[in-house]
Amino acid sequence: RTHKITLIPGDGIGPEVTAATINILEAAGKQTGCSFDWHNYDAGADAYAKTGEYIPKALYKSIEQNRVALKGPVTTPIGGGFSSINVTLRKKFDLYANFRPVKSLPGLKSNYPDIDLVIFRENTEDLYAGLEVMINPDIAQSMKIITRKGSTRIAKSAFDYAKKHGRKKIHAIHKANIMKLSDGLFIKCCKEVSEEFPDVTYAEHIVDNTCMQLVLNPYQYDIILTENLYGDILSDLCSAFVGGLGLVPGANLGAECAIFEAVHGSAPDIAGQDKANPTALLQSAVLMLHHIDEAATADKIQAALEKVYAAGKTLTRDVGGKSGTRAFSEAVIAAL
Ligand code: NAI
Ligand code: MG
Repeated sequence: RTHKITLIPGDGIGPEVTAATINILEAAGKQTGCSFDWHNYDAGADAYAKTGEYIPKALYKSIEQNRVALKGPVTTPIGGGFSSINVTLRKKFDLYANFRPVKSLPGLKSNYPDIDLVIFRENTEDLYAGLEVMINPDIAQSMKIITRKGSTRIAKSAFDYAKKHGRKKIHAIHKANIMKLSDGLFIKCCKEVSEEFPDVTYAEHIVDNTCMQLVLNPYQYDIILTENLYGDILSDLCSAFVGGLGLVPGANLGAECAIFEAVHGSAPDIAGQDKANPTALLQSAVLMLHHIDEAATADKIQAALEKVYAAGKTLTRDVGGKSGTRAFSEAVIAAL
């Protein structure tokens, strides 16, 4: 089978981790009998320089047609400049569920062994929508909008996933003691959905306490269900349990299409130096392979990846190794 997939390598470390990931997918596909027709697009500052658009119309069209995209990180300027490409794509395609599994790989030393938790982050609303105005030069206003529709469908995604995968417990994370109306509506919807799933334990934790609870004992969490901004922050926190941002994958899921990307950003501090760990994007690609019914290819890659981690000889610097992006990806290919 040949799969048409929209590819956005991104910038910073994006092109390096994307090249590594593609090479591994191609090599695995050769063994399992699947191939890929990559439709390659720039986005962000690079796209603007070439086409005058931050997100070229052809890219939108490609995602509409292929309905699956693999995406590297794209730099978002701080303060002024253009709006986040990530946020724009998530809103444009209504990719309302951001699914982020945080799972320990074998062989890595950590204060938190055998972590296996999942984050469901609402992906289209909240303060993250960036609805902001200057009231006057000295007062800025950011609008937090939480809807019944948005909250109910992310809760439903989390509970459906729990049921399908035999997960036992969902914590809705909120700050409804302070934001009584917006976060109040969010947990009200989560609670309502929970009543349709009597086999899944449902609890609510306040987000600041959750940060402490996670660091003290992350094992008390199974599925974290939360709003957009809290989910953004908790994802980076949770990535540290399993070795950091170089490892944790993600999927932006909607009714029509899906974009698979790592949790991490463009890491300008290590870009272009063959230092980035491609594992996070590779594991995002593994999620993508499951999504397009290529489970055999997905499993093959995951097994090879775990073999390389268990051996511990060719790891990147972020997880205590000495190898570069390319050497690491060659080791994964050799282990396939
Ligand atoms: P970042 O995630 O790019 O980097 C944070 C730290 O983690 C850095 O020390 C970096 O070197 C390290 N790191 C990240 N990914 C790594 C990898 N694969 N291997 C090894 N080390 C890795 O976060 P930062 O620096 O706050 O953001 C940089 C840019 O990325 C910003 O413009 C931000 O807006 C953008 N960004 C884009 C995202 C996306 O495209 N989905 C997501 C998050 C941030
Ligand atoms: Mg983030």
